This record gives sequence, structure tokens and C-alpha cells, in this order.
Amino acid sequence: MKKLLLSLFIVMSVVMNVRADEGMWIPMLLQNNEQEMQEMGMNITVEDIYSINNSSMKDAVVLFGGGCTGEIVSNQGLLFTNHHCGFDWIQYHSTVEHDYLTDGFWAMGFEEELPCPGLTAVMLKKMEDVTDRVLEGVENSISAEERAEMIKNNIAKIKEETAATTDYELEIKAFYHGNQYYMIYNEVFKDVRMVGTPPSNIGKFGGDTDNWVWPRHTGDFSIFRIYVSPEGKAVEYSEDNVPYKPAYHFPISLKGVEEGDFTFVFGYPARTNEYLPSVAVDQEANVIYPVSVDLRGKILDIYNKHQEKDPKVRIQYASKHAHLGNGWKKWMGVIEGINNFKGVEKKYAFDKAFTKWANYSRSRGAYLELIKDFERVYAEYEPYRLATTYLSETALQIEVVTFAANFNKLAQVTKDTPQEEIDALIAAAREEAKVFFKDYYQPIDREVAAMVLQEYIDNQPADFRPELLNTIVEKYADVQAYVDELFAKTMFASEENVNKLLDEFKASKAKKIAKDPALVAYNNVMDFYLGNVRPKVAEISGQISELQRIFMRGQMEFHAEQNPDKMMYPDANFSLRVTYGKVGGFSPRDAVRYKHYTTLDGIMQKENPAIYDYVVTDRLRELYETKDYGRYADKDGSMHVAFIAGNHTTGGNSGSPILNADGHLLGLNFDRTWEGTMSDLIYDPSICKNISVDVRYVLFIIDKYAGATRLIDEMTIVE
Ligand code: ARG
Ligand code: ASP
Repeated sequence: MKKLLLSLFIVMSVVMNVRADEGMWIPMLLQNNEQEMQEMGMNITVEDIYSINNSSMKDAVVLFGGGCTGEIVSNQGLLFTNHHCGFDWIQYHSTVEHDYLTDGFWAMGFEEELPCPGLTAVMLKKMEDVTDRVLEGVENSISAEERAEMIKNNIAKIKEETAATTDYELEIKAFYHGNQYYMIYNEVFKDVRMVGTPPSNIGKFGGDTDNWVWPRHTGDFSIFRIYVSPEGKAVEYSEDNVPYKPAYHFPISLKGVEEGDFTFVFGYPARTNEYLPSVAVDQEANVIYPVSVDLRGKILDIYNKHQEKDPKVRIQYASKHAHLGNGWKKWMGVIEGINNFKGVEKKYAFDKAFTKWANYSRSRGAYLELIKDFERVYAEYEPYRLATTYLSETALQIEVVTFAANFNKLAQVTKDTPQEEIDALIAAAREEAKVFFKDYYQPIDREVAAMVLQEYIDNQPADFRPELLNTIVEKYADVQAYVDELFAKTMFASEENVNKLLDEFKASKAKKIAKDPALVAYNNVMDFYLGNVRPKVAEISGQISELQRIFMRGQMEFHAEQNPDKMMYPDANFSLRVTYGKVGGFSPRDAVRYKHYTTLDGIMQKENPAIYDYVVTDRLRELYETKDYGRYADKDGSMHVAFIAGNHTTGGNSGSPILNADGHLLGLNFDRTWEGTMSDLIYDPSICKNISVDVRYVLFIIDKYAGATRLIDEMTIVE
């Protein structure tokens, strides 16, 4: 009895920990949260946030570029998102003469706004529960494969039937790990143009050094605009298109935030896993992430060493560094957070209580062995996940090897291949080569290659190694000898050789390409992955999804009985969500207390002309020195740059509007604090905080820094 009370107590304390700040709520179901939101300070109704009959805030929130969020801020379709979300487009439009990454860009009229072919903004029009239809005929007794097949067919059927009745694009998404399904009607805007961006030393201030970290001073915003046909239809780019007239746009608040203020974030969180059993969290935080962190750290060390020596290399590897470094830094935070917060132990206590609860009633039979099943299946999964991690973080990090893959089709050309086809392959390979060599520095690649191959050999058993690696062990003096030979013999490590190959390509050369050691290495690694690893990963992850679906259902029943007031939110799945929490600093460790906001003074304190991430332009310094902040200054007289609050966000929420109690725009969400990155697995309100750029800093840069007042004029500003 004592034991039972104890474990119930632990469960209760886990549950009680779950405060309002946790949760990513489906906007359509927000009625359930309305009272709590209003008690926390919200002045509006949830109907103002999401309505299908009237215009509401949801009509001003879009999925930007498939991976971020954007919000509409004028009645002419003007869109805010993060600088790091617009980054690829800023880069796309940049040339040596017009280097928008370095200098920023401000369209001075509609005609100067730059088309971005392929960029979309997706707006949710409505969603409906289609669970019954998706699960029609799906009995509990059938196998997992049959189940998946039936669901797939049902989804296709529902979409087909509905497509006849609507112009909107449809998607059906699983929620609560397949216990619920929603059909979502989307309007997909296909003409989205680039309107403005600050220079990188504002939009990316602090760079990778400050990434994931508070205090933060990044002006992480860029500006786009949605265009539609003169009839108002979402169509591809055309010169005749006109700025979009949205049903709603966000008013912008100049009031700023104070500790304790209510805020909410409206956007597209990508993926979370809050309902895993302890064994899964343990594997993630203590087995998989440490490997990725270790390997990426070693690669980044090599990048850093060369980047510091040569400014050209610094630029060449900036984007690669940012990409590898983002996950690397985040996962370190996750590991530390899970350990400090005793995340695995808390999950374990829950697993135990859950199993005990299952034991009390026959109707809960499906849950009785669940935790044991998870333990067995995850144990089986581990070596395959490790192998996948090693492959992607080692062999596939050798740039010349992945680049060689672009030549696989040319390697298969025969004398019967039609000349047009060959020409197209050559043209495509030329394009790839141009992009590749622009940012390729062979000394880095050589060093990375030797390091990662050695790591793979040292850490993976022989039967989990591609044949190539076993060959290296058996036939070469050491890894370095293999790497030296690889680079001496491959034609893919030199732009000159690749161009020569493409200039002189004939069918008779295909064999030579096929024998190139870099391409041989790539194919060897991929054959191993596709033949020996992926089928097992697919099989086991299928079993895990099935167990997780049942576990999710069980957790919902468990809480409904044990803790009926607790509301359960579905894991993030790239669907539109609302999360809410209060502005506030926190204490990340003993004796340290973070304030909830940063200012321009902090930018000046960080300024260092010698460090790329901390360069400040003369213009910004001048505005700082003359304190020319206009109406964008805080009432304390300073220029606020960023702030933190307790909103439960994740990747994909970047660019999301953060709104005040009246639903006015306060800023743009762009990151989380490092101490709380574990929030994708376990949320703890004391350390999990989202970071936003203060909209007053955004307007200050647009207005005072860039003089793009025409943009300010079209916004609705609440002073
Ligand atoms: N950490 C943020 C996110 O996960 C921002 C990443 C972009 N910024 C950077 N310095 N790499 O996406
Ligand atoms: N920086 C992330 C993004 O790009 C947001 C986050 O993970 O908090 O979506």
C-alpha cells in the first residue's frame, strides 16, 4: 500500500507539474482552454482566434516555406517571418553585386518585390474530425500491416470524395498517435515575394554562437508578401498578380511586455514526443543523441579550425556549420535537461503506475504488457538506430562521397541511351557541380573523411559496417591510407576534373564513372543501409507506432480517471496550434537569474569587429548613440530586442506571431532557451522558455535603420 501511494504520488506530481504553459492546442478545440486563458489574462475570446464563420486570427497565420510560420501584418498581404526562415531566399536573390545577406534588402515599391519560385504560404481554412471515416472497418483484431493499409485506402477515398466539393487542398493527419484523424482544408499561396530583410549582422546577430541561448540579441525577421490573381485566387507567379487582401491581419502593439503578461503563440510546430515510455526517452537521451553530439562536435571542430584560418572558408562553410551545429547544440541541451530534470526516472515512475493501473481492471488488458513490449522492441531497435545514426553522421558527411551520388545516372548510361537524356543528365550534373564546388574546401573534407571512417570502425561491430569499412580494416594500412587513395583517385574532388568529364562525356565513359572510388563508396554505404538496416528500421518502427498508439489511448484513459481536469494535447505534427504562457525570466542554475528581456545595450556589449557573429554596423551604432528610437523605445527609454515567455513551442514555430492579451502582435518567436530544449520530450515550465524578437525592434529596424517607411505605413499600429 505504501508503495502504491508512493508511486501514485509521483504520478500525481508529474501530472500536477503540467501547468497551463504546457500544451500545443488544436485551435478548433480551443473552447476547452478559454476559461484558463482568460484567467491567465486574455481579454479576447477563442472565437476571435479561430472561427470558421467569421474572419479570425487564423486567417493571418501561414505555414511558410513548408517548415516555418509566418503572419500577415497588413491588408495587402504583407508577411513577417524569421530571417533564418527566409534565409534561403535571401541567399537565392543575392549576387556579388547585390549581396542581400550582407547588406540587407528593402523593396522600395511593389515592383521591386522579388518573386521566389517554389515558395509557398499555406493557410488553414477549416478542419474537421474524420476519425470515424478513417477508421471505418478497422477492427482491433487485424494485423498492423492490414491496419495501415486500410487506413491508407480510407484516407485516399475520403480525400477523393471531398476533392470534388472544394477548391482547397486537402490533407488528413493523424493526431494522438493515430487515435484521431482530422481533415484539413488549405489554401496554398504560390506567389510569395521577398520584400525586405535586415543585414545578417542584425538578422543573424550572435550567429551559431548565441543560437539556442539566452540572453539573445537577434533581429531574426524578414518580410515577404503574398500575391494572388486579380480575381483573388491563389495562383502561380504572374506579372498581373496583385497583393493579397487577407480576411484578417494582426495589429501591432508598441506597448511591449512585462513580467507576468499573458501571451500566446499561433503557428506550425513540427514534431514533439511527449508521451513516450521511459525506455524510449532513455534511448534518445542516453544512446542516440550522445553519438550524434560527439560526431558532430568532432566535425565542427574541423570546420572551425579551417574557418578561423581563412575568411573564404568561413563563408563557404557557414551554412553547413549552421545546419550541423543547430542539432548538435540542441541535443546537448536535451541530454543535459533530461538528466538534470530526472526525465527518465519520471517517465519510469509513470510507466510503473500505468502498468499498475492497467492491472486493476480486466478491461485494461491491452495495456498490461505494453511497457514490457516497449522495452523488448526498443532493445531490438537500438543497434539499427545506432547504425542509422553512424551512417548519417559519418560516411554521409564525407562531401565528395555524397556529391558523387549525383553521377549515378550518368554511370548507367549505355550506347542506347537517347542523346537528349544524356544532355539533360549532363546539364543537371553541371548545375550540382557549380553549387557544390562554390562551397567546397578539400582539406576539410579529407580530414572529416579520415575522422568519421575511423569513428565508424571503432564504434560499430563488423556486421553493422558496410563492406567498404571492413575492406579498409582488412586491406589498408590504416584509414588514412584509404582516404589518401580515395582523394588521389576520385575525379569528384576537383572542379576541373568534373567539368572535363562533363565536357567530354560519352557513353563509353560511363564505366569509368561507375568505378570512381567516391561513387563506389557511396553505393556501398547505401546498399548496406537499404539492404541491412532500413528494412529492420521500418519493421520495428512500425511495431513501435502501433504500441505507441495503444499507449497514447491508455494514457488518455488513465488521466481521464486519475486526473479528470487534465487536458491532453496531441503531439505536434505540423498542424496549426495555439500555445499560451506568461512572460518571465527564470533561474537556469544555482545563483543565476535571467531577466525576461534584452536591449540594444546588450548588442553593444557583445560587439566585436573581429568576431563575425558580433559585428555591428556603423548605422546601428549611430542610432544607438543618438538614442533615436522614436516611438519604438520602451517606456524605460531603452530599445528592447528580445524576450522570453513560457510558451510550449518547437521547430516549425519559428516565425510564429507571439500575441498579447488583446491578440496584438508583440514579436516573432524564433528559438528556445538551451536549458529547456528537452521540451520536445518532457516539458518543464521552470526552464522551458520560448525566445521572441520584440516587434518594436523589428519596426525600429524597418523604419529608423532602413527607412522603409512605406511598409510601416501599411501596418496597423497600436500605440
Ligand atoms: N535554433 C533555431 C531553430 O532551431 C534557429 C536556427 C537558425 N539559427 C542559427 N544560428 N543556426 O531553428
Ligand atoms: N528555431 C526553431 C525553428 O526554426 C524553433 C525552436 O525549435 O524553438 O522552428
